[in-house]
Amino acid sequence: MTNQKNLTTSWGAPVGDNQNSITAGQRGPVLIQDVHLLEKLAHFNRERVPERVVHAKGGGAFGTFTVTNDLSKYTKAKLFNGVGKETDMFIRFSSVAGELGSSDTVRDPRGFAVKFYTEEGNYDIVGNNTPVFFIRDAIKFPDFIHTQKRDPRTHLKNPTAVWDFWSHSPESLHQVTILMSDRGIPATWRHTHGYGSHTFKWVNADGQAVWVKYHFRTEQGVKNLDVDLAAKIAGENPDYYIDDLFNAIEKGDFPAWKLYVQIMPIEDADTYRFDPFDVTKVWSQKDYPLIELGRMELNRNPENYFAEVEQATFSPGTFVPGVEASPDKMLQGRLFAYGDAHRYRVGANHNLLPVNRPKAEVNNNQRDGFMRADDNGGRSVYYEPNSFGGPTESQEARLTPFDISGQAAQVAYNSDDHYTQAGDLYRLLSPEERTRLVANIVGAMEPVELEEIKLRQISHFYKADPEYGTRIAEGLGLAVPQEA
Ligand code: HEM
Repeated sequence: MTNQKNLTTSWGAPVGDNQNSITAGQRGPVLIQDVHLLEKLAHFNRERVPERVVHAKGGGAFGTFTVTNDLSKYTKAKLFNGVGKETDMFIRFSSVAGELGSSDTVRDPRGFAVKFYTEEGNYDIVGNNTPVFFIRDAIKFPDFIHTQKRDPRTHLKNPTAVWDFWSHSPESLHQVTILMSDRGIPATWRHTHGYGSHTFKWVNADGQAVWVKYHFRTEQGVKNLDVDLAAKIAGENPDYYIDDLFNAIEKGDFPAWKLYVQIMPIEDADTYRFDPFDVTKVWSQKDYPLIELGRMELNRNPENYFAEVEQATFSPGTFVPGVEASPDKMLQGRLFAYGDAHRYRVGANHNLLPVNRPKAEVNNNQRDGFMRADDNGGRSVYYEPNSFGGPTESQEARLTPFDISGQAAQVAYNSDDHYTQAGDLYRLLSPEERTRLVANIVGAMEPVELEEIKLRQISHFYKADPEYGTRIAEGLGLAVPQEA
């Protein structure tokens, strides 16, 4: 072969023998002077980075986002301004509870994390395929995830812990209903919608703000898997979704989603019939209809899974000018959690890696740290203020001032209506869909060890809709609650 390259060590020197260690004679022990062997084994021992503590199993693809409707009257974020404007993006789909090698076709929410490489820096929307979440205060997240992961004693999944937590956290009912419905096992990642889930703030060039929610609607149509088929696939091809996405893109069948937003005037948040920052609730589309914004098409597979998917770091706090946080307590907690996870999992310089590196020019005073893989700022000025023409602040990137009021305290949400939206969803389902939902829940609750947990959870289903609660009680052979 004419273009054959020499095998080298990581320091670039040619390797003389990559098949035989250096030994003292034919049968002698291996010599410590075999630095190529030492380096090879030592590097191998360090091939794994910690998997994500949640959303460990996933797959990703690159694509293009195109604006189809100019919404610059609501946001100055340049990626959303100007019909036809194109922005490169990367998406990672995932499941939540399983480990890196777990099966794709299990009942779980699916992560839907999008990174836009905008001209003003990266913008991430780190959502799920569900518009709501199980809890609404970050302080409950580690406990919630403990119940989803393995029991520390047995290393087995623990349905008693799952339903114990949910039955004590009735705000989860809406998301539990979605999870246990057909939508809990999508046919593929291509056949599911995506949501930003939280409420965010958009700000326009005049400094006027609105509240916003994101909806990615699949152009492939929503399709789900039958539970028996899903279980079969889980055994036969645990990487079924990765396989599907990779091969669809490989053969030019590019999946696409339309991006819509719901816009709420800032002042409506004070008077809306529930707290619009409560991530366990959806905003009615009658009150705030979907407005088209753009189209996302996935058209390129990663060249290398570890480099681009495993090392990708998304954060709901990766904002660009024109997008800001809302007071959603979950979102506020997440603004800390992701950056912290990235510094631990990938390292303080994770944004220098190609998949995370902004396409916009980066000028800052960060220096040094593990794996600083660029020129570390070279000879440029490394502090501010300075007299040497270093990078300066941008007025248009200043945060929009906002009012806050009230006493600092550990306050609960003032709405305890966990039932209306879950019940509305149940009532929207067809008779066949309700039957499958009930069967899924009954099957999942049967192994729960304590009857009081089952009864507590049944009463939540009953409060959402008496038929819903009754059918689950009957399925479990337990008493139907007497009152809502
Ligand atoms: C991943 C924390 C709620 C969606 C992660 C990771 C952490 C985390 C630590 C791993 C990050 C990494 O290692 O790169 C939290 C906390 C939450 C929370 C503390 C609540 C306070 C949510 C919610 C959603 C969500 C509400 C969706 C609406 C995701 C997604 C990923 C993820 C999609 C995977 C990102 C990727 O593909 O790299 N979360 N999470 N999380 N989380 Fe959350």
